Amino acid sequence: MTTLAVNIDHVATIRQARGGREPDPVHAAVLAELAGARGITAHLREDRRHIQDRDIYILKQTVSTHLNLEMAPTTEMVKIALDVLPYMVTIVPEKREERTTEEGYPVREKERELVKTIETLRENHILVSLFINPDIAEIRAAAKIGATHIELYTGTYSNAPNRRAADDELETLKACAMAASKLGLIINAGHGLNYHNVSPVAGIDNMGELNIGHSIVARAALVGMDSAVREMLALI
Ligand code: PXP
Repeated sequence: MTTLAVNIDHVATIRQARGGREPDPVHAAVLAELAGARGITAHLREDRRHIQDRDIYILKQTVSTHLNLEMAPTTEMVKIALDVLPYMVTIVPEKREERTTEEGYPVREKERELVKTIETLRENHILVSLFINPDIAEIRAAAKIGATHIELYTGTYSNAPNRRAADDELETLKACAMAASKLGLIINAGHGLNYHNVSPVAGIDNMGELNIGHSIVARAALVGMDSAVREMLALI
């Protein structure tokens, strides 16, 4: 069954706009879990533009489903992951100038650097997911270097200029999910999913967890986190 992990980064974005203590992403995580989310995702960026180190350490203590730490595979982040020991690390590419993660991690290009990071995390009993573009060669590379999960980038599907392009991308996502499942990978997906486009992705065979942030936090600002999560769960 497809499940929902709520990405709470944008709650921290609102907090950082004033540099104070509210709203607290830790509180948002509690509300999301009480509404039925099966996981909490947070991205500790190198520039700390939203989530702070303190958030990750407290979330590790308070999240009662599972904590998925998104991070770039840098020495600093690996050190933090080994200290926090989240349930899962999702490796994402990071560019300073981007507004949000814009594409999957280039696994084949960075295979050699990734192998050691994945090995270190897994030795410490942390599951490792690679956020990748929906591309069979990337999926094979992810399986080869020891990832336990992949997260398929759904940004191309979400930003498709028309219905036909969205349908084509959905077929690509389905083919990738099937290939990944045959390789023994657990399949997650995310980026740009919202209340209008989530259902077809949720219905893909073998889809595990959907990581959804912006649309849920945007709706939560108007109707509250509880309703925003429940409405998304109903569509999933
Ligand atoms: N998955 C990954 C790896 C991401 O980097 C993001 C964005 O932070 C998301 C999912 C959630 O994307 P969105 O905020 O568009 O729902």
